[in-house]
Amino acid sequence: MSPITLKKVNQIKTLNNIAESGLKVFRKDNFAVDNDCENPDAIIARSFNMHSMDFGSNLKAIARAGAGVNNIPVDKCTEQGIVVFNTPGANANAVKEMVLTTIMASSRNLFAGVSWTKTLEGEGDQVPKLVEAGKKQFVGKEIKGKTLGVIGLGAIGALVANDAIALDMDVIGFDPFISVDTAWNLSRTVQRALTIEELFANADYITVHTPLTDDTKGMFNQATFSIMKPGVHILNFSRGELVNEIDLAVALEEGIVGQYITDFPNENVLKMENTICVPHLGASTAESEENCAIMAGRQIKDFLETGNIKNS
Ligand code: MLT
Repeated sequence: MSPITLKKVNQIKTLNNIAESGLKVFRKDNFAVDNDCENPDAIIARSFNMHSMDFGSNLKAIARAGAGVNNIPVDKCTEQGIVVFNTPGANANAVKEMVLTTIMASSRNLFAGVSWTKTLEGEGDQVPKLVEAGKKQFVGKEIKGKTLGVIGLGAIGALVANDAIALDMDVIGFDPFISVDTAWNLSRTVQRALTIEELFANADYITVHTPLTDDTKGMFNQATFSIMKPGVHILNFSRGELVNEIDLAVALEEGIVGQYITDFPNENVLKMENTICVPHLGASTAESEENCAIMAGRQIKDFLETGNIKNS
């Protein structure tokens, strides 16, 4: 009788509730998926901070079900030969919809108007009269014909730019990693090529879609606020550290920044009247969680089975 050879079972550790649809890929074949697994071959994670995590001796790959990898110690992984994947574009539509929603909501003072209306009290026609008065207090502005500056022309920035053009905005762009001319030729989305200084000086709205790196950290600061159009709306659904929030608080107080909209609020600005701060919701839709989990699951399965490194 020939000896039975047991196939190695690959252990996959999941962190922060990865959508089940992405894990289906592991349910057959030689994989075990568990969030308690101590010595995994691979990890699939959302935003869990792995900087002080003990990886065990078997770890070969980490897939981040999302775009940013700043919760992963990438340099340590490179030294140890651990491959790091992310899921570029998988949550781009969710972020784009959040950006467009909040560009319009901030322009129409929607959240301030809702909060104010909830405080109204009265009987008979008192509330309708007060509601009429609120009309003057929350007069908005239209986005048609206004200039949107998109910083970062990757998957998310290009989608935002495209749809903003459809909403009759004038869209200008800058990317720290590729020239705007290249971005323009690739995506056909940005209407004018600019330096970042020109973008800051011309935009009525600025939305930022760059990763957090040593070069982009603090790119919104006192010096850059000072060249912006007074009253500019800044949308940051990328990373809080792109903005120097002490300088931002001053710019908000002085009206240089008209509104700051973010899902990375900081205690310096979150209670200010002209900020719209939400939890980390930019990419938080059922569809995007599923897309990211499916892409991450496939990347890990493919890598463990074939050694293929495909970051898409
Ligand atoms: C990302 O990095 O993909 C976004 O910040 C969204 C998220 O992590 O939930």
